Amino acid sequence: MGICISSISSSSSSKTGLHCHASTNNHSNGTGFSSSTTTTLATTTNSSVGPQSQFSEAASEYSGGIIGDSGLILESPSLKVYSFQDLTTATKNFRPDSMLGQGGFGKVYRGWIDTKTLAPSKAGSGMIAAVKRLNSESVQGFAEWRSEVNFLGRLSHPNLVKLLGHCREGKELLLVYEYMPKGSLSHHLFQRTEPFSWDLRIKIMIGAARGLAFLHGLQRTVIYREFNPSNILLDSNYEAKISDLGQAKLVSLQAHSHVAIRIMETYGYAAPEYLETGHLYAKSDVYGFGLVLLEIMTGLRVYDPKRPHGQESLVDLLRPKLSSEDKVKYIMDKAIKGQYSSKVATEMGRITFSCTKPDPKKRPNMKEVLDVLEHIQHINLVIPDLSSTKPITASSSQSSPRHYQF
Ligand SMILES: Nc1ncnc2c1ncn2[C@@H]1O[C@H](COP(=O)(O)OP(=O)(O)OP(=O)(O)O)[C@@H](O)[C@H]1O
Ligand SMILES: [Mg+2]
Repeated sequence: MGICISSISSSSSSKTGLHCHASTNNHSNGTGFSSSTTTTLATTTNSSVGPQSQFSEAASEYSGGIIGDSGLILESPSLKVYSFQDLTTATKNFRPDSMLGQGGFGKVYRGWIDTKTLAPSKAGSGMIAAVKRLNSESVQGFAEWRSEVNFLGRLSHPNLVKLLGHCREGKELLLVYEYMPKGSLSHHLFQRTEPFSWDLRIKIMIGAARGLAFLHGLQRTVIYREFNPSNILLDSNYEAKISDLGQAKLVSLQAHSHVAIRIMETYGYAAPEYLETGHLYAKSDVYGFGLVLLEIMTGLRVYDPKRPHGQESLVDLLRPKLSSEDKVKYIMDKAIKGQYSSKVATEMGRITFSCTKPDPKKRPNMKEVLDVLEHIQHINLVIPDLSSTKPITASSSQSSPRHYQF
């Protein structure tokens, strides 16, 4: 079953951490980061080989090289180092009206930075960035912050959100990302105020599949772990980018390699093998991807405790119908009726069924999933659906709360 690499968990402590070459964007900020040639990211204590050094190794195998479709892995993070004052300025003192949202890590604010230097700028000049500020009560905070810097700071791919910089000053830990103006897939699916077409849904899932296939295709596979619709962010053209690699784990390419980690009970998109054994595989991400496919098909949350008893888990409820040509059409979101052919519904059912197979070995890999989704997008373009001409209205696209009755 491959090697169990529990020690590479981001939550494992590392005293020496990662030695990486500072980039041209690295400016001293008096926080332990400097513009000298080497930077130690993890300055906590412990001399064991931590996740960063494994990542360094993986990175050096590729350093500077193009991987796959426009992907790039950098030898060292190319990130701007901000002071806390910089980010206070950029976000207008973290004003509540600058807040973009809140997640497990903390609050995310809209900030303004200079387009070229990425230095903080006055509101309205330069470009917008998303500034994530760690919640000081978060226990996992530093490990996640460090992991995000090490993973996302080194990976460049059109379908990964770009990390622009970071700040560590006293207890303050912040991350600065490219701003994704269309928000998250979750927002469009579940807090809809306007129609959310099938074409957009499949386009977004193709983008997300490309991002995940890139992570899985690296020599040391990166298991993303956090595949859920709130971490799929959208640029102004609805190109999807995966965000939040703070929980990501590295494994070797050996078949079925896995990491053993503490079970996160809140992980609503977790694969069964993870819940049962704590073992996580690249194919566990494929399971999570399958759950999100189910969400874009149905317009429903994969798990919703507010649904009637027995209907809380969508996969338990609907999986048997996914492989049936007759039944799959009945589970599709009524808000997108008429926008896809019946062949598309059938094919979507099949690939979602495969991704959610209980045995990880039987699931397709992300490259195979991507190929299928591209094919599905193509067949919808060439086979117009004449079965329904029902107009799509904003009100008809409201999906929540909606319950299935069979
Ligand atoms: N780069 C970004 N551009 C625009 N909005 C963002 C960006 N990053 C995060 N957000 C928004 O900020 C909010 C919080 O994001 P965050 O990633 O902290 O939490 P989450 O994804 O909802 O949950 P989790 O803690 O599981 O990641 C979300 O609504 C998200 O849409
Ligand atoms: Mg997130």
